[in-house]
Amino acid sequence: IVGGEFTEVENQPWFAAIYQKNKGGSPPSFKCGGSLISPCWVASAAHCFIQLPKKENYVVYLGQSKESSYNPGEMKFEVEQLILHEYYREDSLAYHNDIALLKIRTSTGQCAQPSRSIQTIALPPRFTDAPFGSDCEITGFGKESESDYLYPKNLKMSVVKLVSHEQCMQPHYYGSEINYKMLCAADPEWKTDSCKGDSGGPLICNIEGRPTLSGIVSWGRGCAEKNKPGVYTRVSHFLDWIQSHIG
Ligand code: ARG
Repeated sequence: IVGGEFTEVENQPWFAAIYQKNKGGSPPSFKCGGSLISPCWVASAAHCFIQLPKKENYVVYLGQSKESSYNPGEMKFEVEQLILHEYYREDSLAYHNDIALLKIRTSTGQCAQPSRSIQTIALPPRFTDAPFGSDCEITGFGKESESDYLYPKNLKMSVVKLVSHEQCMQPHYYGSEINYKMLCAADPEWKTDSCKGDSGGPLICNIEGRPTLSGIVSWGRGCAEKNKPGVYTRVSHFLDWIQSHIG
């Protein structure tokens, strides 16, 4: 996250940290964010997993404010199923159908146990989003600047505004790279944005008075660059796909 502020996971208790296991006993490497949409299921981005689409290679933590360290109250999960969208595709800039589902279970076969630092997030109503111009929250362990080589160790969050498709499809924005299964969100002053490493994490908007998973961090040109919003998978357009897999 560029700009924004450091936070504790109690403020984003649906945030999931997804790590890729390493060979030879070295600790797992942080891979992507995700969101707990039901006690056994985490939603994330397909592009995080496409190079290595094997569930055995990943481990999921809930309740982490600090990356790659022990957090009191955290829960660790193996991935029981890894489902990538069957029409996931990459263009020059854009990712299409960039959504994945991870079924999680502890070593003793349990799903997530809600607590102060672990909670599910609501899915949006069908084809319903907050109005353009609304404030929404983003969360992640991604870079604080595109040129940084290091990633922050502590969880960050920020607030961005939903940008209309009309605006985001302007030639000096993203032109025809954008479609209606994506949502654009940005800071009017281009000071804050999601960035590399935030992929798969949540874009949370208030819909009908409740926090809702409206988007999944997917792509963008640079980070917090003028006229280049963050682009998010539009969850309200994937509910049938989600339902068909999680039932
Ligand atoms: N694709 C990036 C990742 O792998 C996320 C990029 C988001 N970019 C942005 N400008 N909002 O982490």
